[in-house]
Amino acid sequence: MSNMADYTKEINKRRTFAIISHPDAGKTTLTEKFLLYGGAINLAGSVKGKATARHAVSDWMEIEKERGISVTSSVLQFEYGGCCVNILDTPGHQDFSEDTYRTLMAADSAVMVIDGGKGVEAQTRKLFKVCVMRKIPIFTFINKMDRDANDTFDLLDEIEKELGIATCPMNWPIGSGKNFKGVYDRQEKCVITYSDTEKGTKEGISTRIAMDDREVLCGHIGETFMEQLEGEIELLDGASAEFDLDKVGSGDLTPVFFGSALTNFGVEIFLQHFLKMAPPPLARRADIGLIEPAEREFSAFVFKIQANMNKAHRDRIAFMRICSGRFDANAEVKHVQGGRVMRLSQPQQIMADERKILSEAYAGDIIGVFDPGIFSIGDTVCMPKDQFCFEGIPTFAPEHFARVRQLDTMKRKQFVKGITQIAQEGAIQIFQEFNTGMEEIIVGVVGVLQFDVLKYRLENEYNVEIRLENLPYEYIRWIENTDIDLKALTGTSDMKKIKDLKGRPLLLFVNEWSVGMTLERNKGLVLSEFGRS
Ligand code: G4P
Repeated sequence: MSNMADYTKEINKRRTFAIISHPDAGKTTLTEKFLLYGGAINLAGSVKGKATARHAVSDWMEIEKERGISVTSSVLQFEYGGCCVNILDTPGHQDFSEDTYRTLMAADSAVMVIDGGKGVEAQTRKLFKVCVMRKIPIFTFINKMDRDANDTFDLLDEIEKELGIATCPMNWPIGSGKNFKGVYDRQEKCVITYSDTEKGTKEGISTRIAMDDREVLCGHIGETFMEQLEGEIELLDGASAEFDLDKVGSGDLTPVFFGSALTNFGVEIFLQHFLKMAPPPLARRADIGLIEPAEREFSAFVFKIQANMNKAHRDRIAFMRICSGRFDANAEVKHVQGGRVMRLSQPQQIMADERKILSEAYAGDIIGVFDPGIFSIGDTVCMPKDQFCFEGIPTFAPEHFARVRQLDTMKRKQFVKGITQIAQEGAIQIFQEFNTGMEEIIVGVVGVLQFDVLKYRLENEYNVEIRLENLPYEYIRWIENTDIDLKALTGTSDMKKIKDLKGRPLLLFVNEWSVGMTLERNKGLVLSEFGRS
């Protein structure tokens, strides 16, 4: 664009990534160590580390306080090595929600933290699926090498088989647990020796010993490990995938690093390599084609809406990922779906108890703005003269379902209003029996905690009491065919036909076998795990 200032430099500095892991793999510890290296510019939401001063600051909802967990996602920003890093944190609890998935829609790459003693776990598997759908680069950090870890080849094999992504170890661990000696850097052909005396501080004293310096190295790691390492390197060079940055970029190959976040070993090496390989803000698909970050003025899309950020104000915050250009708080922008030109109110770097009002931000950054109830997930904001919509955010398949019973039928109106609003924010999805209206409501959630959140919010914000009856379904599928005769559809006995608020038909199943059976019995039927928003 000719009249647009050149923001390329600022934009290219940005690295916006999400960390995915199963609870307890060490995501929080790793994030804290990252912050040791970079001067944290903005701490938003929570890093829940107990040992640090940067305590969980998120108490947006009583329920979070009661359970001591973070229900919501947060963002951290820091500078390191000439990069401006945005880390999108995801709830650390097992009962994660659709927000966890949506956060991945705002990231340009992902870091997957795996516990070396546990391997690939359930939550990683789920989040990984979304990364694959988006084809973003995924970097793997195998953590807790200071504890007994599984065999390294087995770990890589598991990632390849379970997740279906090729692996390329960038370094290689020597022993684990009490016998953890360090890692072999495949590029530099040297060993970085392990020491846990630097726990909690920046790395510095670990020594590098060249592989050629066999005698010195033997002195450090011992003859047995030396021989083992030599054998493994040979195997590795012959058998593992070649490093290929293009394949990393398309999400077909994951570079793997080993380390110990707790003892701060291997973290800075990982960060350095990661920042070199991770992409700057990526182009985003819109209805007019790809929107390139540096070639267009400000545009953003809403990926999350959070109610009750501040209990005293009962406010709603819309979180936006800036996709192009520079955001100027004083300039007018257009909310495309609402057809309105306006100034974004109280733009802020997402803060929990201390919100920082900001005046500018760039593509790659995340901002939170006050939402008077006009934004929906997936909405586009751009310059007043522009007109386009970013591709919608998919609706992720809930895995838990319950029928909602309202206890006081006199409060029907509040109930419908409350549950509809909460659904609009995307915390829950609501469905109806196929042949009835709003009198029978089925709610679906990605994590069971959302049931409690729903109950709590309806009681506290709308003064409506409900009872939830759990339903046995675990699989939901959107019907992709537009010309299907639903009455003629023959499923299994456990299959249930429902519809969403827009009247689109969906199917619920108790197990995956039934999904397959139904597909077999109805030739031409196309079912999808992701819905369209
Ligand atoms: P999460 O955010 O992925 O849920 O994990 P988090 O960082 O909270 O780490 C979970 C537990 O694992 C913590 O122990 C943490 O100290 C420990 N941990 C993280 N990285 C490493 C590592 O590299 N090596 C070892 N040995 N442990 C690690 P905790 O007992 O639950 O908490 P705390 O009492 O230590 O704070």
